[in-house]
Amino acid sequence: MIRRFVSGRPIVTGAVVRRLPAESMDGFPFAHRLDGGRFVFSFPLEKDEIVYGLGEAPRGINKRGWIYRSFCSDDYLHTEEKEAFYAAHNFLLHDGCGIFIDFPAEIRWDIGYARADEAVITLDGEDFEIYLIFGETPRAVVREFRSLIGKSYVPPFWAFGFQQSRWSYPDAEAVRDIVRGYDEAGLPLDAVYLDIDYMDHYKNFTVDREAFPDLAGLAAEMKAEGIHLVPIIDAGVKKEEGYAVYEEGRDKGYFCRNADGTDFEGGVWPGTVGFPDFLRPEVRAWFGEKYRILTDMGIDGFWNDMNEPALFYSAKGLADALETASEMRGKNLDLPQFFALKGAFEGLDNRREDYASIWHEIDGRPVNHMRVHNLYGASMTRAAGEFFEEAFGKEKILLISRASCIGAHRYGGIWFGDNHSWWQHILLCLKMLPSANMCGFLYCGADLGGFGGNTTPDLLLRFLALGVFTPLMRNHSAMGTRDQECFRFENTADFRDVTRVRYRLIPYLYETFRRAAEEGDMMFRPLSFDWPDDPLARECETQLLLGDECMIAPVYEQNVSGRTVYLPEEMCFVKLSGDRITAKEILPPGLHYIRVALNEVPLFLKKGKSIPLCRPALRTSRLDIAGKEDLTW
Ligand code: NOJ
Repeated sequence: MIRRFVSGRPIVTGAVVRRLPAESMDGFPFAHRLDGGRFVFSFPLEKDEIVYGLGEAPRGINKRGWIYRSFCSDDYLHTEEKEAFYAAHNFLLHDGCGIFIDFPAEIRWDIGYARADEAVITLDGEDFEIYLIFGETPRAVVREFRSLIGKSYVPPFWAFGFQQSRWSYPDAEAVRDIVRGYDEAGLPLDAVYLDIDYMDHYKNFTVDREAFPDLAGLAAEMKAEGIHLVPIIDAGVKKEEGYAVYEEGRDKGYFCRNADGTDFEGGVWPGTVGFPDFLRPEVRAWFGEKYRILTDMGIDGFWNDMNEPALFYSAKGLADALETASEMRGKNLDLPQFFALKGAFEGLDNRREDYASIWHEIDGRPVNHMRVHNLYGASMTRAAGEFFEEAFGKEKILLISRASCIGAHRYGGIWFGDNHSWWQHILLCLKMLPSANMCGFLYCGADLGGFGGNTTPDLLLRFLALGVFTPLMRNHSAMGTRDQECFRFENTADFRDVTRVRYRLIPYLYETFRRAAEEGDMMFRPLSFDWPDDPLARECETQLLLGDECMIAPVYEQNVSGRTVYLPEEMCFVKLSGDRITAKEILPPGLHYIRVALNEVPLFLKKGKSIPLCRPALRTSRLDIAGKEDLTW
């Protein structure tokens, strides 16, 4: 059962696919008030109640005890004190009730932070829709919610293979080297990503002809090997005379504007850019069609980046900072002056005042960016997704995005952005999986091995042992960091053992994924969903249920030979390694210390369940799906 409450004149976000009768806010069951143009509502939290939701967000599966913000943020340091990541997934689930706030401006979620026994939610505006979703169990609530927001994006089958990325593989030869490196080491691979340097001066839909003289040829050569190339597309379009995409966008008036009607100009990788106003259907159609330039070259996968949108500076912000600098030139700066100078540049990126100076157009009327911020990246995904479906049909093109809000789950998947080569980020990824699934984002995953900083082979292996299960299994790392491809390390055999397990599991993972997409279910669930009355299952933040058959529990610390797991019921503990099953043991309910070597992937099978395992192969296209055998209790 779903109740829909409408306040004022909400912006149509496209998040929901079912039209339900609207109730007036008079009947809204939670305490609420208006506070200086903001809508605030609150509800009590029982002592041991769990609050789930918020998708891609900081901290735990249970969101209690912190403040979160729905404000898509380009923030590459995913530390505990953060309140927002790249996404704005406005769904919360507590006490048998789901709350979905269909509202694209900022929301502040105080989930028992100011007062442990209260949740206070503040919407930065008065025009919104709130849906209350009821069901017998949390899983039923999620299913009901998902029927409201429509079916999740399903990528092509090959997107379940292992994918390798780096910022950036500089040229065609480097891409060939990567494939050769994987092949020679007997490591499976299905895709290689092209980060921003494949472009000509970071111009979307162009190719650096010196580095990639024949991208179409390379794509065909790779395709013949079963490898897909996945180039990046950024939100900002470089301002440059003679660059057709920019000139068209400018001449058609398709970029976001300043208050005076001129084009808003920001700075990102290419320098000054215009930001397509993806909220307009005609702009989406125009930009979406541009992907054809690359699909015509045989490309069938994309990642949309920097679409919060990330803003290194605005034209005005940079001009002001340079002015400050020129005023200070030649002066003997005292401490406050020096910090003012430093601050003038350091504070230039992603400034609220810059976002507030951006204007969109909705139904011919100007709308300030702050009212629709969280729709921007999602609308870029929609632009691409709508084009792909129209031009090629469903499930043909891989698409992942960095920024997202609910609604975009129908058009593409997401990756969890710039994590680090930190042990704690294995768990951060694990915790986001069920939360993202609730919100419809099934095709997702983290940068395995960590994006920022230098990885170590043991960290990468443990990360991969979780990534074996995530629909998006991609190793990606930042410029300036140590080489992170699996074949770079001396213990290649360990990497072979772990990544081959993925290919053995692909038929199972793909089926589980498809079922979740079809039925509006989650692929990963917290243990508390299935054992709501078991205190240890309720508190478990380091293990997940996968489908109805398995439980996963990755090792997440360095220099340990295993970890403690909690079994709410008797389960079969299995260790998979390459083509082998290195352990299979029935364990009674309770706490256990399990030993897991670096080349093993632990898995727990529920009683009476079985999962198919096929023989590993170096590509998804070479998997012998028919020749699978069952792993049974
Ligand atoms: C930011 C993205 O999050 C990251 O994955 C990418 O490598 C860089 N932009 C460069 O394009």
